[in-house]
Amino acid sequence: MPIDNPFTTAVGGMPPRFAGRKNEKHSFSMSLKFLAQGNPRNLAFVGDYGTGKTVLLKELSNMAKDVFCITFPCYQFENYAQFFNFLMDTINRKIRESKTDKILTIFRNNIKSFSIPVVGGGIEFKEDDSAFDPMNRMIDMFESVYKAVDQPTILFFDDFQYYLKTIGQSEILKQAFTVLTQELEYDIMLTVCGDLTTFEGVQEPHEPIARFFEPMRIEPLSRDEINDAINTPLESRGYRFTDEAIDRTHELSQGRAYYVQLCAHYGLNEAHTRQITSEEVSTGLRSVLKRLAIERFDKIYNGVSPDQQIVLQVMAYIDRPLLHKEIINGSESYDITESSAKMSILRLHESDILMKVGNKYQIREKLFEEYVRGKYVVTTTGVHPLKIDN
Ligand SMILES: Nc1ncnc2c1ncn2[C@@H]1O[C@H](COP(=O)(O)OP(=O)(O)O)[C@@H](O)[C@H]1O
Ligand SMILES: [Mg+2]
Repeated sequence: MPIDNPFTTAVGGMPPRFAGRKNEKHSFSMSLKFLAQGNPRNLAFVGDYGTGKTVLLKELSNMAKDVFCITFPCYQFENYAQFFNFLMDTINRKIRESKTDKILTIFRNNIKSFSIPVVGGGIEFKEDDSAFDPMNRMIDMFESVYKAVDQPTILFFDDFQYYLKTIGQSEILKQAFTVLTQELEYDIMLTVCGDLTTFEGVQEPHEPIARFFEPMRIEPLSRDEINDAINTPLESRGYRFTDEAIDRTHELSQGRAYYVQLCAHYGLNEAHTRQITSEEVSTGLRSVLKRLAIERFDKIYNGVSPDQQIVLQVMAYIDRPLLHKEIINGSESYDITESSAKMSILRLHESDILMKVGNKYQIREKLFEEYVRGKYVVTTTGVHPLKIDN
């Protein structure tokens, strides 16, 4: 029977039920209070791929009803001019859809004074303009919005690592916001999301950019939160994932929000009755892996050396955390020398594909391990599925 499947398989798509994130929402609502009192403080949330950063920003902006919220979805910028054009276009669009023409005109007049009019009546920034001064342009840009909308404002930056990594002078941002919020006393607050590398390796002559924010790591969804994310939207449809099916989804997804949606979506597609079993979640896993192969896993797997691939195969087949020595022994039966196995473990650990728990190693992502298990291995004796006695 065809099922009206509520679970979203689109990254950034709003889930049918927004689960968990109590701490994040609490921290944000405290910040809203501070903002209303005229003491803005800035928040940063960091999390891995698919942990739910984009959706968290949407949820937070829904919480901030009396505030003007604008979300900037960052990408790799080539220079400050491109960044400012991106800011300006995003602000323009947001004001056009949520405010009056009058406010849009005020904003456009405000920025005209410091940008370059181009043919056709548009406005644009050019890097080679001798007067181009990113810090003052940033102050001008946000001052223009604030004065046009005339209310407390929250600037959300999604995938903020791109800002810091590509044009990354964190000093400019810090100084601009210090001027805006402390000298000019504007009620403007920043809330950003980024991947786990967001605050790594940023050039910081004075103090770390992370201190300018209150950084929080987005934690995996707990088993109960997964149950809520899956079974609450199914209730009205008359379906339910059994406790074992929720446990299986928890185990496979490790609480990563995107993987929870995928396991729920493809598990539900396999349903034979209105009670979805853990076996059906396991059957759905094939479709989950096909998808993740294209999106992510093929790239990771093909990006490591053939010896590292074999080490991963050995670990996936044995399917339990392994001592350094056990991995080396396992790899030796596939013609990997001891020194190459050692090097492979080191590299895989450095690139975060492996993690260490106590004195044992395991593949970080359970779903990636499942993907590797489905691979065939190439050795000197030909191509065959890797089999190891456990
Ligand atoms: N709190 C949540 N509860 C339920 N599902 C969520 C939650 N957060 C994110 N998701 C789902 O997980 C997927 C990935 O979320 P997204 O915000 O795009 O992740 P990121 O931006 O960190 O890569 C989306 O399909 C989204 O619907
Ligand atoms: Mg995102």
